[in-house]
Amino acid sequence: MALFNQTKSYQALQAHFEQIKDAHMRDMFAQDSDRFNKFSAKACGIELDYSKNRISQETLGLLFDLARETGVEAKRDGMFAGDKINTSEDRAVLHTALRNQSGEPVLVDGQDVMPEVQAVLAKMKQFVAEVHDGSRKGYTGEQFTDVLAIGIGGSFLGPKIMTEALKPYRVDGLKVHFVANVDGAHIHDVLAELNVETTLVLMSSKSFGTQETLKNTQTAKAWFLDNGGTQDDVAKHFMCVSSNVKAATDFGIAEENIFPMWDWVGGRYSLWSAIGLPIALALGFDNFEALLSGAYEMDEHFKTAPLEENLPAILGMLGVWYINFFGAQSHVLLPYDHYLRGFPAYVQQLDMESNGKFATPTGDYLDYATGPVIWGGEGTNGQHAFHQLIHQGKVLIPADFMLPLNSQHEVTNHHAMLASNCFGQTQALMQGKSLDEVKAEFAGKGLTDAEIEQVAPQKVFEGNKPSNTLLFDQITPRTLGNLIALYEHKVFVQGIVWGINSFDQWGVELGKVLGNDVLAKLENTDLPLDNDSSTNALIERFRNR
Ligand code: F6P
Repeated sequence: MALFNQTKSYQALQAHFEQIKDAHMRDMFAQDSDRFNKFSAKACGIELDYSKNRISQETLGLLFDLARETGVEAKRDGMFAGDKINTSEDRAVLHTALRNQSGEPVLVDGQDVMPEVQAVLAKMKQFVAEVHDGSRKGYTGEQFTDVLAIGIGGSFLGPKIMTEALKPYRVDGLKVHFVANVDGAHIHDVLAELNVETTLVLMSSKSFGTQETLKNTQTAKAWFLDNGGTQDDVAKHFMCVSSNVKAATDFGIAEENIFPMWDWVGGRYSLWSAIGLPIALALGFDNFEALLSGAYEMDEHFKTAPLEENLPAILGMLGVWYINFFGAQSHVLLPYDHYLRGFPAYVQQLDMESNGKFATPTGDYLDYATGPVIWGGEGTNGQHAFHQLIHQGKVLIPADFMLPLNSQHEVTNHHAMLASNCFGQTQALMQGKSLDEVKAEFAGKGLTDAEIEQVAPQKVFEGNKPSNTLLFDQITPRTLGNLIALYEHKVFVQGIVWGINSFDQWGVELGKVLGNDVLAKLENTDLPLDNDSSTNALIERFRNR
């Protein structure tokens, strides 16, 4: 298939971009009072208002032509069907099978994976029930009160952030703590709160080879043994989730304590597997199942809705429009919801580890941009910190605003204030404030013309800054499942358009290898320093600390 910028639709979009690039959204709204209805869509309880984008209906038509010409629909179907679209690792990509509720088989190499998926879900369900009802006990016969969940990247962000997002659903009597960083301060602080007798340690590592996770698990085990537990008691307290069962048993985890996963689940797409066990422990299995249902609902929408009404396709193609035509290099996520404050960090791994690529699966280097920098934070806090740059900086930063219409905690009129800020920001970004408007405001304030000339430009808002707004009823496990799957599929659409493999992550490897080499030199001062002068000096500083 031709690279994306060699397609006919790309050429058509390029010509169209030249015509529309300076058009102001303020005029587009003024000319068409029906703009919101034309550029909004609803699915799975999410209403997407994308009318505040620098697009016309022609733009959208051309963007969907591009999606079709690059094979988005066929490749989407291939992913759901278990095709080995992760070609560099020769793997299928089937996080969707983990939440498949259709009753239909999903085949990998001719084998239906659904019985295994269901068996692991059943094992998780039983385990969660036993921990909650106290029939699974620690080595002194005490009920578990705490779970120490150890993992990093996809084996951490999803469980941690979604547990946080669903705080109002947490079960009483069991607290889940997360440790990811190899910085000893993290595990030090968490262990200080825990009691070995009542703590269950759940180590999550798809590969069972991640340095940070192995180290933190060893430290947790040493803590357990130093504080009353014995080697024989370890099996009662240490569980793990991994696709590498052999490495886990070699490490000393009892086989019955291993929750398996499969190579066709990518780390950043794995919270639907047993990697999501901390979520199920924190919220109850029913709520974990509701999360899966929400994702399944979005899968069905993505699979069946025409691209023109397909939320992931719309978001994905709008992203392509800004990245490849307007030159946007970042995309900001702004959840106006305190519980969703971690969501941008979740999507950051999902998007940047998936689409931060510069070569195609067939070995061509790309001469166009791919995945943007994903960043963000909770509204309204960002308005008092970084929104300045989005409003008046020299770079274009498309934004996704997210707002639940109903708060988990209606406290006086807090929620109306939150919503007003969210909507007000999108309006300000879109319409801006012209020089004439600023000058008119100065009239009658007694300023000289020279003073006005000097001050006015600093108060101008160019506007024409694009944003999407996603509204939904409330943050529930189901809505959250909808939202996460929406972003997963958005990333998929973009990866297909750009012709890259969104499901490997070779770019993380070099640093790991060099880090191991440096560790050896930090710990063995007899080893010669044969790196570049900067790295040698840094190692020396550490050796001499
Ligand atoms: O180093 C990157 C990465 O492989 C991520 O893709 C993954 O989510 C994370 O590390 C953790 O990997 P694992 O679950 O194998 O420990």
